Amino acid sequence: MSTLVIVGSQWGDEGKGKITDYIAQESDVVVRSQGGNNAGHTITFGGEKFALRSIPSGIFNPHIKNVMANGMVINPKQMLEELRGLEARGIKDYQLFVSNRAHIVLPYHEMLDGAYEQFKGDKKIGTTKRGIGPCYTDKASRIGIRMADLIDPELFKVALKDALTIKNMELKMLGLDTLDFDTIYNEYVEYGRQIKPFVCDTGELLEKEIEKGSKVLFEGAQGVMLCIDHGTYPYVTSSSPTAASVPLNAGIAPRYINNVLGICKAYTTRVGEGPFPTEIEGELANYIRERGHEYGTVTKRPRRVGWLDAVALNYARRVSGINYLSLMLFDVLSGLDEVKICYAYKLNGKEVTTVPATLAELEKCEPLYVTLPGWKEDITNVTSFDELPENAKNYIRKVEELTHSEVAIFSVGPDRLQTIRLKEIF
Ligand code: GDP
Ligand code: IMO
Ligand code: MG
Repeated sequence: MSTLVIVGSQWGDEGKGKITDYIAQESDVVVRSQGGNNAGHTITFGGEKFALRSIPSGIFNPHIKNVMANGMVINPKQMLEELRGLEARGIKDYQLFVSNRAHIVLPYHEMLDGAYEQFKGDKKIGTTKRGIGPCYTDKASRIGIRMADLIDPELFKVALKDALTIKNMELKMLGLDTLDFDTIYNEYVEYGRQIKPFVCDTGELLEKEIEKGSKVLFEGAQGVMLCIDHGTYPYVTSSSPTAASVPLNAGIAPRYINNVLGICKAYTTRVGEGPFPTEIEGELANYIRERGHEYGTVTKRPRRVGWLDAVALNYARRVSGINYLSLMLFDVLSGLDEVKICYAYKLNGKEVTTVPATLAELEKCEPLYVTLPGWKEDITNVTSFDELPENAKNYIRKVEELTHSEVAIFSVGPDRLQTIRLKEIF
């Protein structure tokens, strides 16, 4: 049995796409199991750059089965646009399987996402406005529409009528335009027709693959600190990006999951609102933001920047069962006189080493740092641990010590080739 779960161990955008693509080269199946097109996963190889949103990062390899599993929320229009965009760039020979149980994002979800954000005013979450929260809400409220409905014109008619009856009341109540059944039906029935060839019971497919010994890679979206259960609630997304959610969201047995690679930047970023204990501002933040091109893939917003937070990483390790780390964007830290890692928070005069549950407490947390000497050398061409400057080596060792995790991979640039593997984990 060989499965590996890739999870974002911070607030998203850690480089999951890059590492999924890198490990995909030796995989048979790549699975996205949660989230939707709120994700933006950047992959760079052969001088080309791709930004995937809902399509799994194995799509570039004709031999890989790419699965969009039941826990995802899929915007049919965006998914087809993404596929057509890939095809236009020569990615035509691919295998894609879409779960019949995945929920679909409809125009009213995007409208409601925007409206809730507006009504929340300065308490807005800073969502990607892709309708992700409202779609998961409908799933839990049992008025969601699934792929199996979308691809059957008769089932879709009934499901959309039922959903629109309620959603139009909600839109009206919020002072928004209501939606016309025929317009949405005619447009989406066509999307359903185009997606139908990909739709199947992906849980069944995955069990067969795992049982026959295929190498299956689960590509997380978002990050543990954005988890609906374990993240900085309410400043989170509406799904669980943890490894624990994978069996549920992919329709497989939990016993198949025991290998978890946490993806983490050598520093921290966050896009959107919410607490961020190690956030830094000013010249230093700008230096890191510019070197790391820290602007959102989906919304182009500048990302907030901070030092590495080992408290949050340890917490992510615990709630997501991370056993290895992949340290990303390590090259970005070159040129600094000193680098810092937060080892504990000071809260009400006491040192704490786990993430408090309430915003009120989190906002009061002051980071306590270990300060390490920096390195000036450009490390973007490094191909082994031994080639790193001594201070960069020490940084990795300190990360391992403070997070109680082994660094199995480090990354020194966006390209597939700028990846250094320290341990075989798959
Ligand atoms: P994801 O959402 O976790 O897949 O991450 P994103 O793709 O949203 O953001 C990560 C960004 O960092 C992308 O622009 C990547 O191309 C880039 N990247 C990944 N690894 C490295 C690295 O080691 N060094 C540098 N400089 N950039 C990297
Ligand atoms: P990837 O997979 C970074 C953030 C949003 C917002 C919060 C809720 O590329 O790492 P949502 O639209 O999900 O309701 O927004 O979550 N967010 C992400 N931040 N990377 C992501 O995905 C994100 N997906 C959602 O910015 O703060
Ligand atoms: Mg991203």
